[in-house]
Amino acid sequence: MKFLKFPENFTWGVATASYQIEGAWNEDGKGESIWDRASHTPGKIKNGDTGDIACDHYHRYEEDIQLMKELGIQAYRFSISWPRIFPTGKGKVNQKGVSFYDKVINSLLENEIEPVITLFHWDLPAALQDIGGWENKEVVNTYVEYASYLFNHFGDRVKMWITFNEPMVFTIGFYSEGFFGETSVRSGVLAARNVNIAHARAVNAYRNSLHADGKIGITLDLFPVYPMTTSSLDKTATQIIDGVFNRLFLDPVLKGEYPSDILRIFTGILSLPPIPEQDLKLLRENLIDFLGMNHYRPLRVHADSPKSLTDINSLLVNDRIEGHTYSEMGWEVYPDGLYDLLSRIDKDYDHPLIYITENGMACKDDVIIDGIVQDNDRIDYLKHYLEAAHRAINKGVKLKGYFVWTLMDNFEWLHGFSKRFGLIRVDFTTLERTWKKSAYWYRDLIKKNGFYHDSDEP
Ligand code: NOJ
Repeated sequence: MKFLKFPENFTWGVATASYQIEGAWNEDGKGESIWDRASHTPGKIKNGDTGDIACDHYHRYEEDIQLMKELGIQAYRFSISWPRIFPTGKGKVNQKGVSFYDKVINSLLENEIEPVITLFHWDLPAALQDIGGWENKEVVNTYVEYASYLFNHFGDRVKMWITFNEPMVFTIGFYSEGFFGETSVRSGVLAARNVNIAHARAVNAYRNSLHADGKIGITLDLFPVYPMTTSSLDKTATQIIDGVFNRLFLDPVLKGEYPSDILRIFTGILSLPPIPEQDLKLLRENLIDFLGMNHYRPLRVHADSPKSLTDINSLLVNDRIEGHTYSEMGWEVYPDGLYDLLSRIDKDYDHPLIYITENGMACKDDVIIDGIVQDNDRIDYLKHYLEAAHRAINKGVKLKGYFVWTLMDNFEWLHGFSKRFGLIRVDFTTLERTWKKSAYWYRDLIKKNGFYHDSDEP
């Protein structure tokens, strides 16, 4: 039995996102977001679920902050719903929306929980999608205005900011899955380039804002990538997948450049215009203070033939591998991957400050004893991933904090309410919150700033 202690000033948190928990989709002047629109489109979301009510956090935020307080949470990462602040993306501020977040922030501070704000966690105002969404440079300008408003209004109380959540997913991911209609990787890559510009301009706006004494970063979904065989073809495929999923987003924010091998592939296959020098300059001049890392699983890669190297999707191995473990999402559980990933980023990007802004597991959660969900698999997952994080810290990686995804079961995008990631169980009929076994476990871990690994606590 081993007790793994974390550094003194390590931050323990939980994360959520506006559309996934708030509900109140059309209350107090809020505008429509692309997720309201998607969930109101028949057939789009599993079981026809919507975020109209979700966890009703908009009305129950005080209760939820009390839950966090009881858990001992030190920092709470949440996102702002852009259409609550600017119903159509820009123009006149919706004061009632601002006042909701004022109340949340003030209550967090009163309870000694540090607010960590994500500016954009996918719920784009629908009116901005109508003019082309992230493909349109005008949306970049509008985002910078929105960001500046938030920095100036909340910046006296909020000292940790995240410009975007998982740009890979809502650009290349959404576009190549046909979320906006036609499937187009090209549009996705163009959108990703604009998002990187929006990010750099927001970093710049923060540093020129009224209260610029905090830190600003971005949250990327990052993966360790492993070849299925030792063939040189699989090695090349691994480099491509690593480039598209990781380096395409890491290099701009940590080095101020794009990975040349991936640019070459995209320029060739998608006939994209080159990146203008002024965009590169903007990236170089606005590097992040910290990297937010969302991490859940590794990617395994295999190429059938040299020709298949140009079909990026075909390189990902989606079938389950015998002997490996998978979560309810079908995602492989591989804690050593987190160690590999942290070590690699530390080495390749000159030791950046890193926060794990999301990590967690969807479980069945169907065994309930004395009212407590027996989510032993989740506890096991968290233990093993945190052991890997601890090993990386010991090796010198500057990992400064960890946020569990997620505080409470919520709307898991296209899966609706069918996947549960929370430490707290939500009954979506009564909206009652109950603690799972993992919530007690996480509370004890925070109290001790560490945990017993390899066996149960004595
Ligand atoms: C990443 C996303 O940021 C979050 O919104 C989502 O619920 C979790 N992953 C789990 O899929």
